[in-house]
Amino acid sequence: MRRILAILLCASAAYATQGIDVTESQGNVDWKAVAAAGKRFAYIMATRGIDHVNSFFSQQYDGAAHRHIIRGSVHYAEPNRSTGAEQATYFLSNGGEWRNDGYTLPGAVMFENGPSGDTCWGLGPDAMVAWVADFSTTYSTRTGRLPVIYTSNDWWVQCTANTATFSEHVLWIADYYDMSDPVPGGWTFYWLWQSERDLGNGLGAGDIWNSEYNDLVAFAKGPSPVPLDSSGKSE
Ligand SMILES: *[C@@H]1O[C@H](CO)[C@@H](O)[C@H](O)[C@H]1NC(C)=O
Repeated sequence: MRRILAILLCASAAYATQGIDVTESQGNVDWKAVAAAGKRFAYIMATRGIDHVNSFFSQQYDGAAHRHIIRGSVHYAEPNRSTGAEQATYFLSNGGEWRNDGYTLPGAVMFENGPSGDTCWGLGPDAMVAWVADFSTTYSTRTGRLPVIYTSNDWWVQCTANTATFSEHVLWIADYYDMSDPVPGGWTFYWLWQSERDLGNGLGAGDIWNSEYNDLVAFAKGPSPVPLDSSGKSE
């Protein structure tokens, strides 16, 4: 079974498009080198919680587009610090806006384990689902785009009780193995996969857009997510 999956993954890799995601810790990014390494898109951390802005955001975000790398911005959720609406508004005020310019992906909201071992930030599944909905509604009302949702399988299952409420959103799944686990939450397909935690050389994490470059361009323009056919590929 493993072997068959590995072969399927290799076969689909022909359609995959490579990218990266970066945070403040990457500092000034050498986007010329990123482009030369074949990376076609980037997600860039803009904000965290309600009181932290990436001080390298402009260099990273504008620098990527300057090298014709399609980019989007990321909000790191701290769901116990304020409402989802407040954090979406904070994100939108600090780099989270979407523009229909062909170089801007819809913003992503990132869910990771809380610090000090509290995976779900002290929130139960119902409260967490309400938080995600509040964030998403605020973001999409303002931009006309649904935010991308970044999560791991484990986090989503544990912290949202594996809700299928958000399956219309584009899923960005973190998995540093082989993506042989099923995707959570009623999603049938992942568009984005964070496959490498750290590429080294200041490149940040490694990501795969699970389709051709043209589909990525279409997704940037929106307004709706790229439609899927039954095999999970875009129509
Ligand atoms: C939020 O949750 C994290 C993880 O449990 C904790 O470290 C932090 O103190 C909490 N903050 C608030 C404001 O409750």
